[in-house]
Amino acid sequence: MGDIREIETILKVHNQEHIIKLLNKLDGEKKDTLIRQIEKIDFNQLTELYENTKKEVEIKENKIEAIKYFDKEKLTYDEKNAFDKKGEEIIRNNKYAVVTMAGGQGTRLGHDGPKGTFKLDVYGKGKYIFEILTENLKEANKKYGVTIPWYIMTSKENNEATEEFFKKNNYFGYDKNNIIFFMQGELPLLSLDGKLIVGKDMKIKEASDGNGGVFSSLRSTGALADMKERGIEWVFIGGVDNVLAKLADITLIGMTIEQNQDIASKSVVKANPHEKVGVFCKMNKHPKVIEYSELPTEMAEEVDTNGELRFGESNIACHLFKIDAVEKISKEILIYHTAIKKNTYIDEKGKEVIPTEPNTYKFEAFIFDAFDLFDDMSVLRVKREEEFAPVKNKEGADSPRTAKELYEKFWQKKKITV
Ligand code: UTP
Repeated sequence: MGDIREIETILKVHNQEHIIKLLNKLDGEKKDTLIRQIEKIDFNQLTELYENTKKEVEIKENKIEAIKYFDKEKLTYDEKNAFDKKGEEIIRNNKYAVVTMAGGQGTRLGHDGPKGTFKLDVYGKGKYIFEILTENLKEANKKYGVTIPWYIMTSKENNEATEEFFKKNNYFGYDKNNIIFFMQGELPLLSLDGKLIVGKDMKIKEASDGNGGVFSSLRSTGALADMKERGIEWVFIGGVDNVLAKLADITLIGMTIEQNQDIASKSVVKANPHEKVGVFCKMNKHPKVIEYSELPTEMAEEVDTNGELRFGESNIACHLFKIDAVEKISKEILIYHTAIKKNTYIDEKGKEVIPTEPNTYKFEAFIFDAFDLFDDMSVLRVKREEEFAPVKNKEGADSPRTAKELYEKFWQKKKITV
């Protein structure tokens, strides 16, 4: 363990004197744990991230262009067949893996526990989100005669609870040797005036470093090496909270192979030109998900010769990567974005403060910033009502109520058509 004087100096230089005070109050194991935690923090990086929150966003001249996409509904019989054949071959030959990003804090939903352990009130009895995802994969396994390896990204905060949950529920009948948990990295949270905050356990509060952390953590935890050992060639990476996500879509895989791309994503068409969602485009010749706030109004409203929005393909966090692409990205540093979130903390008197308003900066890398490392990608437009039912907010749009409705409607329709 490092010299306490040195640690105090670092804290002082970086305006974190309140942590020195806390260290002086603690002893034994608690003090040692805190020291070890401080030693792992990259204070220069943290200071830079905080300073960035105060900087004006630089408006650069960006060349924004529409991105080419395929509409699944409008594929010809031959096109679809050719894609499906290629995709099916990949899955049947055990060359396909699925990654679920479940390391988020789920602050908007406010569920006590990992988001995947939230029970959606479907069909009276209810189903856990993780249960729904497992069923989805089991259906694909049955169809293609395989067991798809399923990698679940957790965070330090929710890893134990996630693993315990799966164990308690007997992995919902999935082969447990094919469920691999791996933990993502973390960064400290900062109060709005740039101070580290402390939790009830007297540790500095940290939170997962965004879903863009998926690539480097796949590599650092050995999950990527495990995939390679299994002969995996294509990796689907998606969020935990879309209960209609199609985790093994042969059309998506086949289309990407046919187009000779290394990465692909699914999109749903924007509900209206001003829907507040990120859309796919090309920026300065590279694929990108552009936030609605960055897209000029006239572009948001622009239509092509078919009357379709030119920038209408919204991101639903269903991405596909060639394994070499995952490896390539894992060696790069993605930029961090700042989110302001609500987090409880212990004040200097040792009292827990429960904020009513967002009170902390959280630094996150986004998975789609990785697209910029490529010249192009495939985009497959799918039907919103068939593939997108997110659970984000406690109430209103994208809430358990809307997801339940969409889920039940989809399965009702599927039963009728089968
Ligand atoms: P969101 O951006 O919706 O965040 O994550 P969230 O943590 O689930 O919810 P809020 O914003 O706190 O309410 C999109 C997907 O990325 C995962 C989430 O678990 C979700 O599947 N994610 C997000 C991670 O795996 N790690 C992170 O650090 C952040």
